[in-house]
Amino acid sequence: MSGKIPRFLAACRSQKVDATPVWFMRQAGRYMAEYRELRKKHSILDLAKTPELACEVTLQPMRRLNVDAAILFADILLIVEPMGQKLAFAPGPSISNPIRDEKDVARLNEDAAEDLSFVYEAIKLIRRELDPSKALIGFAGAPFTVASYMVEGGPSDHYAHVKKLMLDRPDLWDKLLRKVRYATAEYLKAQVAAGAQAVQLFDSWIGALTPEQFRRHVRPHTAWVLSEVKKTGVPVISFGTGTSGFLEDFAAAGGDVIGVDWRVDLDAARKRLGKRAVQGNLDPLLLFSDRKVLKAAVKDILRRNGGRKGHIFNLGHGILPTTPVDNVRAVADWVHELS
Ligand code: CP3
Repeated sequence: MSGKIPRFLAACRSQKVDATPVWFMRQAGRYMAEYRELRKKHSILDLAKTPELACEVTLQPMRRLNVDAAILFADILLIVEPMGQKLAFAPGPSISNPIRDEKDVARLNEDAAEDLSFVYEAIKLIRRELDPSKALIGFAGAPFTVASYMVEGGPSDHYAHVKKLMLDRPDLWDKLLRKVRYATAEYLKAQVAAGAQAVQLFDSWIGALTPEQFRRHVRPHTAWVLSEVKKTGVPVISFGTGTSGFLEDFAAAGGDVIGVDWRVDLDAARKRLGKRAVQGNLDPLLLFSDRKVLKAAVKDILRRNGGRKGHIFNLGHGILPTTPVDNVRAVADWVHELS
């Protein structure tokens, strides 16, 4: 491709940009009427498994918001099906055969990425439709977050089963995480081969761990995925929530860009992360506030970044289902105007 690279990709590389790039985690979804319309006819799994529909849902926010990147429409839990688990969304995710013992782990198929070709087909379609100034982000769940669903069987308050497995059976935990990390790395590499120009690893529940649990039981596996994916040459974003108590350790696992939530000031995060590019970190609840409050919060984040290279504006976690679309659009415009 000739000409300028998308500003999102330049920022991932800490290169100079004409304006701060912005996109929103969970930018495709229920807060948009056009998504809800499609969901009347199709389940979330149908949307994700039909490349034309996944392409359409990926592009919906691109038509409404002036964002710099599209994120593939899929889900971090798609990988558990070809690994051998039974997944449903009702509407929250639920897995009817959670992993609890040796034989459950032994049965898991680590060559799961081969069976996710609908994702790679969707990426090819999206790339064809997307404006060349916008980047396409692929993604997967990070080993801990995916394993937490695999073991708990769904969302969890205290991560009781997964922590018990990790702490009481570190040998079995290691076997499980090795399978998850292999499948995840192969999945992300295949997304890049299909046309994803950057990838994000979502460690949404990593903040449930103590820093020592993270370092000992999770970081080596996350680091392995990040180093495998680095070989593809595309930028990698490592995102976690609740990481402010161990941000340096989290970043030590790797990633070109570190995603931070709203529980840490962006200037403090930047100081702790040194030269690393950062992504974040507006509190998603601010999108429900009045325009004046919201704009001040956007300005504050840009001020804390202080014009440094390597900032991608985003939320600290995903857009909530009842978020007003106009506020999301306004944030994207303000980020470009004010930076
Ligand atoms: O726009 C995008 O961000 C792309 C699509 C995307 C989805 N899930 C679609 C989805 C992405 C990036 C994800 C990631 C994901 N999925 C994460 C990590 C990000 C995060 O928010 O922490 C997690 C933990 C999941 C697991 C998951 N999937 C949950 C907990 C739920 C139910 C909660 C909810 O938001 O309803 C889902 C379902 C899901 N995945 C929806 C969407 C748009 C809502 C489904 C619906 O239409 O009913």
